[in-house]
Amino acid sequence: MKIRMLFLMILVAGVFFWQAGAVAAESRCTEILGDTCLNCHGEEKFCPLLGKSLKFWKATLDLMEANGAELSKDEFALVAECLSLPAPEAKAFCKR
Ligand code: HEC
Repeated sequence: MKIRMLFLMILVAGVFFWQAGAVAAESRCTEILGDTCLNCHGEEKFCPLLGKSLKFWKATLDLMEANGAELSKDEFALVAECLSLPAPEAKAFCKR
């Protein structure tokens, strides 16, 4: 009986941490949007283009790199994906 309770608690804790991790990974995108992208221009530059293809966003972010945006390859890839899906948190970011 006690062992079953312990097992249940570990399971609940596991699900909790797994979800917390997923949320943290997702909000890295909006962190970059807020910190880096808004450094040079307003969100009206990119919010109307939410949901455009991954190809479009990769090309556009290449332009931003040429404009002087300082992000790693991984960060550019993350933002391109999050803006093209578009990810729920990107939509939320743009509805502010
Ligand atoms: C160092 C400055 C800088 C940063 C950082 C930056 N941009 Fe830009 N962005 C510009 C400039 C300058 C323009 C206008 C000229 C142009 O279209 O290239 C622009 C234009 C745009 C456009 C319109 C492009 C078009 O074809 O009309 C989009 C979309 C955009 N930025 C998205 C982003 C996103 C998303 C980020 C964050 C990953 C970002 N930008 C970060 C400088 C920057």
